[in-house]
Amino acid sequence: MRVPESCRPSLVLAFVVLAACKGEPAPPVQAQPKTQPEPTEQAVTNTDATDPATDPANDPAKSMLAAGPDPHSYSRPENVRVAHVGLNWVVDFDAQTLTGDAVLLVERLDPRAPLILDSRDLDIKGVYGMKVDATPGPLGAPELGLDAIRNDEGWVEASWEVGLYDPSFGAPIAIDIPEGANAVKLRYATRPGATGLQWLEAQQTAGKQASYLYSQSQAIHARSWMPCQDSPGVRSTWDAVVVVPRRYTAVMAAEQLGELEGELEGELEAEAGDGTTRAFRFVMPQKVPAYLVALAVGDLERREVGPRTAVWADPTVVAAAANEFADMEAMLTEAEQLYGDYAWGRYDVLVLPPAFPFGGMENPRLTFLTPTLLAGDRSLVSVIAHELAHSWSGNLVTNKTWGDLWLNEGFTVYFERRIIEQIYGPERAAIEAVIGKRELVEELSDPDQMGDKPEFQRLAQDLRGVDPDQAFSGVPYEKGALLLVALEHAYGRPVFDAFLRKWFTTHAFGSVSTPDFIDFVGIELVGKHPVLDGQRTPQLAAWIDGAGLPDGAPEPSAEPLDLVQDEAKKFGAGELEAKAISAKNWTPWHWLHFLRSLPTTVGAAQMGELDQAFELTKSSNAEILGEWLEMAARHRYEPAYPRMESFLIEVGRRKFLTPIYRALTQTPEGWKQANAIYAKARPGYHAISRTTLDSLLRTP
Ligand code: BES
Ligand code: ZN
Repeated sequence: MRVPESCRPSLVLAFVVLAACKGEPAPPVQAQPKTQPEPTEQAVTNTDATDPATDPANDPAKSMLAAGPDPHSYSRPENVRVAHVGLNWVVDFDAQTLTGDAVLLVERLDPRAPLILDSRDLDIKGVYGMKVDATPGPLGAPELGLDAIRNDEGWVEASWEVGLYDPSFGAPIAIDIPEGANAVKLRYATRPGATGLQWLEAQQTAGKQASYLYSQSQAIHARSWMPCQDSPGVRSTWDAVVVVPRRYTAVMAAEQLGELEGELEGELEAEAGDGTTRAFRFVMPQKVPAYLVALAVGDLERREVGPRTAVWADPTVVAAAANEFADMEAMLTEAEQLYGDYAWGRYDVLVLPPAFPFGGMENPRLTFLTPTLLAGDRSLVSVIAHELAHSWSGNLVTNKTWGDLWLNEGFTVYFERRIIEQIYGPERAAIEAVIGKRELVEELSDPDQMGDKPEFQRLAQDLRGVDPDQAFSGVPYEKGALLLVALEHAYGRPVFDAFLRKWFTTHAFGSVSTPDFIDFVGIELVGKHPVLDGQRTPQLAAWIDGAGLPDGAPEPSAEPLDLVQDEAKKFGAGELEAKAISAKNWTPWHWLHFLRSLPTTVGAAQMGELDQAFELTKSSNAEILGEWLEMAARHRYEPAYPRMESFLIEVGRRKFLTPIYRALTQTPEGWKQANAIYAKARPGYHAISRTTLDSLLRTP
């Protein structure tokens, strides 16, 4: 493939790359500023290594990614490390842009090296440097950021350059930091298509009164809305001022400092000084990676749940949300009992509009949640337990790169079930473990999912050149959690809990890799404790590098689900009438297990019987409905089609969308139906859901 002239890297940037690759200090960047090209015009494929233009060895973007410590970030934190970020944004709902500054306080480990930042579709308007008197860190951070942003004096222009754009990874910004400077300011704007932001019309919100903006940065979308070292191995403190139209409230995953009063200067004054806007201030005094910076702006109300917990939501759902999540405070207390003090002050949650592509996102101090958890009966709160658990596994101790996602997600699923066990009892935890394992086994064997991708079945993944969104699966979650269960069984709960506690304290506010885990197990478990009688030492290599599940992997079991399975078989075989099924006290997990245990011969007629007895098409529980609609798609159960269409249009949670669309694509009529619905629904979906569904539905 020919790379257009406009996006060929300059010799200077290439030289920076080559010098950096050899481990020599890079020379200062001399090139003139250049704006980042429009994304569509310079698509460079990831894969064609035979073409000299895209061979990683000849491709500065790929070479830079390969040379650094994280294959998904251009940054070189071993040379220059961002210690604190001061952010200043004006939110423009009409233009769908954030404009403002990012002030980065840097530690120059190699004083001659340039600062290399990640970016994707940012319009950079200017880059400046200055020497400031400030020590980064929890106490210096807030003052420094707020002052530096609002003070335009003393900045000198820096030379900088945007490198080659890659559709998955964006483009590096290489900045020649002026001599002696330790702060860099970038004046910039986002574009409406920024993948890390979703701008919603009022119609797409619960109250339908006001537009909405929210961010979702994991894994590598932070770079689309702020220039940053977008690697989970780099942590910074940060603070922000966010200017929004007066009717809106801004929240961030940070300590909320309230509104900014008094005189505003510079760009802020122009935007905010006329009484039509409000400026909200935030500070994150603990060091966090860029993927945990999060923002939402909308018509938002707050309701207290407990002394350290609250919900934020649209005014029309805030009461329901506070009731649904009433156990949050107890979960927080139990989590601390298990694995040590909570490090983040408050634990609040924000209920987003239904377009949010995930169940939850563990943004520190402010978990983001899908409204599909609002079932009315608190039955889906394990997502809260999960996101809360990330306050330890993920946010406090973070995977160093995305190939080690299991260190975030596997630990978190394990921890989540321990919280569920504490609050709702061992049976509920066991039920959720059985459901989780069954989903994993299904995914591992399904050729449409992980079945034909053994390399994605490993816990430690080699994601060089792979967009982490494309590698997403249940493997890091459930296989990771099963490995921890295997260790718990081998060494006993008291020993394993002490091990986990030590893991969190040893690595607090740091990042970890799979080899770190292997070493830690070697020292803290294998080296110090015998396995319990009758147990074998789990073979870490088989778990970590092998496909599928190793022999002897834990087999969670839950008696109530055995009974459910029995009834499913009997109903499927025509030996049990629908109304005789003992579903009276079933939770959504019983229902899921029942529906998944029906024989494949169950068709539309038997679905009709179930529907008549239990009104499943009308279910207000998103888990039950999601499973039911998938079945309806697979078995062409037409009475559910209107509900299916409205669900697919309203809800953007990828976990529900993918199976339903995939089931539809199995027949020619279904394929047409899927594409017709997708054409209507796609504009309302988040970029992450769109990317997944595009590859499922759009012929390449
Ligand atoms: N951190 C994840 C969401 C995520 C993972 C976003 C990878 C981007 C890349 C979050 O904690 C999560 O796992 N959410 C789950 C819910 C959970 C109960 C399994 C989800 O959204 O379904
Ligand atoms: Zn998670």
